[in-house]
Amino acid sequence: MIVLGIETSCDETAAAVVEMDQSGNGRILSNVIHSQIDEHAVFGGVVPEIAARSHIQILDSLVAQAMNEADVSWDQLSAIAATAGPGLIGGVIVGLMTAKSLAMAANKPLIAVNHLEGHALTARLTDDVPFPYLLLLVSGGHTQFLLVKGLGEYERLGTTIDDAVGEAFDKTAKLLHLGYPGGPAVEKAAKLGNPDRFPLPRPLLNREGLDMSFAGLKTAVRTTALKEEPVSEEVVNDLCAAFQVAVADVIGNRTARAFAMFKDRFPDAAPTMVIAGGVAANQTIRNRLNDVATEHGARLVAPPHKLCTDNAAMIAWAGLERLKLLAQQNPEIMSGNNIGDDMDMSPRPRWPLDQLSDSVLGSGKKGAKV
Ligand code: KG4
Ligand code: ZN
Repeated sequence: MIVLGIETSCDETAAAVVEMDQSGNGRILSNVIHSQIDEHAVFGGVVPEIAARSHIQILDSLVAQAMNEADVSWDQLSAIAATAGPGLIGGVIVGLMTAKSLAMAANKPLIAVNHLEGHALTARLTDDVPFPYLLLLVSGGHTQFLLVKGLGEYERLGTTIDDAVGEAFDKTAKLLHLGYPGGPAVEKAAKLGNPDRFPLPRPLLNREGLDMSFAGLKTAVRTTALKEEPVSEEVVNDLCAAFQVAVADVIGNRTARAFAMFKDRFPDAAPTMVIAGGVAANQTIRNRLNDVATEHGARLVAPPHKLCTDNAAMIAWAGLERLKLLAQQNPEIMSGNNIGDDMDMSPRPRWPLDQLSDSVLGSGKKGAKV
């Protein structure tokens, strides 16, 4: 089976073609990404309207490029998959409408994919990780621990109750005038800093469960910086080092709990945690996760960076996993043209993977993050 995937939920426009063989192994035939970072950098963050317009301008040529590089014809596709949420709604509309149009024109099924499910399943494409496993998703928009029990069976174990961790990196960088995106800039400054000079809080560390909070930490950086005005380069480096180590402490502590919880629930399964999202690139955080995994006799799987951050190969792969399950459950259905999602499927700004766990902050702006 071969699926074309489309991703437009944030500031990356992406198209990819992925193939799954008879035994369920995946192969990426093409994976093209256009990052809008330069268009948003002057504003210090992603501007939704600019993102949506930029997706419109480039998506059709990216799809053409992905199909060319993969060297497959429209006839060869089994389906067209696109992110239908959660994300910035203008961008999601562009991707989903494009996918619907292509599906209609090529007479192929449409598969509406939850972006988080794409992240959750990537490790099965890259490392063939069996269910069940833990997923730690740490990006600019999402921060959560998920239990991936099977296809379509996700349980959210914990989430940020305020800022996403990447957002906290970005806001910290902004207030210290380090530019955008903030994560890599904070990591670079932290390398030169002393993490012990400024004591910063570890929010929620002693609270039960796996929820996290980063807004207070970011505010503590601001308060400390104000006290130190005028802020020297040394203060910036020391603050970045202290901030980074505080984040690693919080994530490390929750990861240890996540492994304990996993062993409790699945005593016969090998404990495994997959990490995804831009923040997973941070070496201090990565080292901490490795240490915690070693202590707990667990396996840590980090797909290649290009597949950990937003991309369309993960969307195509989620579509393929869905097709595979359908084929197993009901082989006859695969020869017909009545598989896939309806053409009236709506794009969704919020779409929790775990429909049973309520959004921590309810609806509204922050609801999207949790
Ligand atoms: O997954 P991603 O590329 O995009 C989405 O948010 O969906 O993640 C981007 C986030 C940004 O907030 C960025 O500052 C953060 O990941 N990030 C990092 C690092 N590289 C990127 N945070 C900490 N350390 C890094 N090295
Ligand atoms: Zn993402």
